[in-house]
Amino acid sequence: MSIRGGLLAYLKAHQGDWVSGQWLSEKLGVSRSALWKHMGILRRQGYGIESSPKKGYLLEMIPDILFPSEIQKGWIPKGLKDIRILPFEETDSTNQRAKELALQGAPEGTVVMAEAQTQGRGRMGRQWFSPRRQGIYCSILLRPRICPAEISGITLMTAVVVAELLRDGPKIPATIKWPNDILAGGRKIAGILTEVSAEMDQVDFAVIGLGLNVNIPKGGFPVSLRRGATSIAVEARQVHDRNLLLQAYLKKFDEYYSLFRTQGLGPILVRWKGLTDMLGKPVQVEVLGQRRTGEALDIDPHGALILRDADGQSHRILSGDVRFRKGARKETR
Ligand code: BTN
Repeated sequence: MSIRGGLLAYLKAHQGDWVSGQWLSEKLGVSRSALWKHMGILRRQGYGIESSPKKGYLLEMIPDILFPSEIQKGWIPKGLKDIRILPFEETDSTNQRAKELALQGAPEGTVVMAEAQTQGRGRMGRQWFSPRRQGIYCSILLRPRICPAEISGITLMTAVVVAELLRDGPKIPATIKWPNDILAGGRKIAGILTEVSAEMDQVDFAVIGLGLNVNIPKGGFPVSLRRGATSIAVEARQVHDRNLLLQAYLKKFDEYYSLFRTQGLGPILVRWKGLTDMLGKPVQVEVLGQRRTGEALDIDPHGALILRDADGQSHRILSGDVRFRKGARKETR
């Protein structure tokens, strides 16, 4: 752990109590003036630290900032062995950053996260609303040894990870709308954007981007999104610790990625089907600008949507945007 990481750990362990400067210097093996400099940096990062020549230092307030050391604390990845989290205060798009790193040879397990995005990207060329410190904007770089057609399995897997995370932690009864929209109370709470670079038969790399609305208040969304979007804070009626959520997400992602690599998509699809309420419902799917309507019959073993049209014919759809049709229930189970 870095000196500043150690310093924070000691201050947090004694939060609300004074800690002597002498004691901290000895524990960290640094001079009093170096300690003072680190305190200054922490204050500039938003930590509320009181100091007194007689009593030492007092940690009064912890800012809501994402820290790689907090997120990686206390767990050892199984599949993403070289996990390395790169934090940005602001970037255009974490997916864009991760793709650039991938092209420079960054290894699997590189994670880019940002406090805010200026050009957060959504599916179908949409934008992803990314207000500062109110969401999780994170992209994981993978180098799976699979063919391009199998990548959709990793996207479905990520949707399972996020829906289960919301059910386990904040206790939000999240559901999945194919392929990868995470809904709460019929509104979108998270989205996943997978971008791939591949040869004909082998994926070079994939970037799995997650946008999760965490502490955005109801009135914090732009008017155009208010009807369709929600956040953890709105659904659970309390703000949540983003470091803990991001840690839980990466842990579960790591676990399910190992499962995907050893057992394929099968066990993940079983979970996926248990987390959706769209099967059997009338839907409209937009595929490359064309609209198809029918019943969402099933998801096949490769993750494609099986749509049954009014004539009873089944269509296999590999990607698209699904809407519930009038009369279809939107609420979660
Ligand atoms: C969707 O349209 O549902 C997908 C939204 C994905 C947004 C995330 S935020 C982090 C990552 N970086 C981006 O630019 N997009 C994804």
